[in-house]
Amino acid sequence: MERKPVVAGNWKMNFDHLEATYFVQKLAWTLRDANFDFKRCEVTLMPPFTSIRSVQVLIDADRLKLTYGAQAVSVTNQGAFTGDVSADMLARLGCKYVLVGHSERRKYHPEDDANIVDQVRAVLTAGMRPILCVGESFEERRQGIELEFAVGQVQDVIRDLSDKEAAHMLIAYEPVWAIGTGMVATPESAQQAASAIRSHLNEVYGETVSDRVRILYGGSVNASNATQLMQEGHDIDGFLVGGASLDADEFATIARLT
Ligand code: G3H
Repeated sequence: MERKPVVAGNWKMNFDHLEATYFVQKLAWTLRDANFDFKRCEVTLMPPFTSIRSVQVLIDADRLKLTYGAQAVSVTNQGAFTGDVSADMLARLGCKYVLVGHSERRKYHPEDDANIVDQVRAVLTAGMRPILCVGESFEERRQGIELEFAVGQVQDVIRDLSDKEAAHMLIAYEPVWAIGTGMVATPESAQQAASAIRSHLNEVYGETVSDRVRILYGGSVNASNATQLMQEGHDIDGFLVGGASLDADEFATIARLT
């Protein structure tokens, strides 16, 4: 099955609502000047919560073909949860995707597997698509257990999902040692991990689901390494980009190369 690639820009804690507006305009002009084909590849943005509304307004007003999502979500839907944002609130803002289990969330917030399962459920229930982030640390790679580790993280989260729910997921393979370090995985090892994850989905849900799930690579992706990462195999369906997504020209180039 032909899967449409997607390039997701995770802004992390960057760009306030004014900077976000400027960035989206610049990205849209750059893509338009390059005759970018949105039917071939989806471009999605993950602003901080405070910038989502500005991104939504601009995209709607100018009828841009960009999509957008959020970087995190609460597992509860409303109530006395200071500082949290619910899946319904994000869905009502037009978010299509929500990142779940990003390694920075796992590290700096109390997000364990059980909590990540609940986030996936909350996102799906609200009608959005979770982008589940998995990937080994340097230590697991040193021990040679990177594939088992990443597949195990997927297994722990998806085990109770229905076929339909699983088919709505995206998975981002992001080796932790590659995030923000400039050390990108080799195209071969990124493909190997994506292939191992897809095989696992195939074992659990069969080919109809495993063929549909888009698997992204993340970790120091930039305009110079995107082509090689895409060319290695058939299991990588795009990128989750951090640092390089903050430069509209570079992010547009990555989208064109995907
Ligand atoms: O969500 C994005 C990843 O954490 C990758 O970040 O491209 O800055 O390495 P990076």
